[in-house]
Amino acid sequence: MFSVKALLGLCALLPSVLAQAAVFGQCGGQGFTGPTTCASGSTCVVQNAFFSQCLPSASAPPTTTVAAPPPSGAAPTDLSAIPASTLHQITNFGTNPNNVGMFVYKPKKLQAKPPLIVASHFCTGTAQIYFQGSKFAQLAETFGYLVIFPSSPHPDLCWDVSSAQTLMHNGGSDSLSIANVARFALANWGVDPNRVFAVGTSSGAMMTSVLAGAYPDIFKAGIVDSGVAFGCFASSGPLDTFNEVCASGNVIMTGQQWAQKVFNAFPGFTGTRPKIQTWHGTADTTVFPQNFFEQIKQWTTVFGLPSTPVSNVSEPFLPQGYSNATFGPQFQAILAQGVGHTVPLFEQQYLQFFGIA
Ligand SMILES: *[C@@H]1O[C@H](CO)[C@@H](O)[C@H](O)[C@H]1NC(C)=O
Ligand SMILES: *[C@@H]1O[C@H](CO)[C@@H](O)[C@H](O)[C@H]1NC(C)=O
Repeated sequence: MFSVKALLGLCALLPSVLAQAAVFGQCGGQGFTGPTTCASGSTCVVQNAFFSQCLPSASAPPTTTVAAPPPSGAAPTDLSAIPASTLHQITNFGTNPNNVGMFVYKPKKLQAKPPLIVASHFCTGTAQIYFQGSKFAQLAETFGYLVIFPSSPHPDLCWDVSSAQTLMHNGGSDSLSIANVARFALANWGVDPNRVFAVGTSSGAMMTSVLAGAYPDIFKAGIVDSGVAFGCFASSGPLDTFNEVCASGNVIMTGQQWAQKVFNAFPGFTGTRPKIQTWHGTADTTVFPQNFFEQIKQWTTVFGLPSTPVSNVSEPFLPQGYSNATFGPQFQAILAQGVGHTVPLFEQQYLQFFGIA
């Protein structure tokens, strides 16, 4: 079955001169045989070994460089006090139980009521590493949103996605710190409450699930790159415990059991829950792909969606072997054949899911 997207993709190609990839279309990557030149106004940018994409020429990397060490200070209530186009550390934004490092990236030009994206790094990562290794900041210069890059305070530089506190609304630990910086941004910086989003890779993907489950009142959408179901890492060990049983795909539950973990995280919450898009590789031997299917059980039950996708298609703008399973407007699950830990970032697609691009 053709998706509307796929048809639109084909139509978009027809009027163009032969062999030009459309804006946001694929223009290179291992095994890619299509056009490698881009439609006018866009340039082919290597995203990873598998995927190059035609990006609007305006989204060139910001010319400013990161100050090292970054300037730091108490979070100003006036956004204009934050220097533009640099990674800027803030403190005193609210309760911060474990002293999570908090960095904000403000582009030169912000939307009037800017969206906010919280981007959480993987284990052994830092705010700076995720900032430099992703295009979230660069694309903020094009689309005018704010980015918060939290930085783990724990020995392995993983996130606490296991403690009872972090898994509970206002329960404490790392998730509360991230919720509090979002609350600060909402209260002081004019951030659009309908456009607060979370994204993360690996441990940061697990944090994204935690934020979606425990703070559905703050976050409106989440992108989970190579993570696990909410609550799967639960453990009474040290705060950044790596839960091997979950990671190896051996925590198997029914959709109802998984959903109950989400409901228990914020009893009495009756609002709209954040929509979720999860990405996983079939060759992931760090966070085994069973976790992809456990997430599907969890979120389809939470949202009351069918347990089988309404469509499952390859997309013209994703590498071959990627399937996009849609269960409803609130939940999509992208499985990447032969891809290990982690699935490379597809920032442009995430921004579309968030309704920013
Ligand atoms: C979508 O289709 C692919 C390829 O047939 C399959 O491997 C994958 O499991 C499907 N996704 C879901 C969520 O059923
Ligand atoms: C998956 O399909 C849905 C429904 O067509 C679409 O809205 C979404 O953009 C697609 N996601 C990706 C990552 O291709």
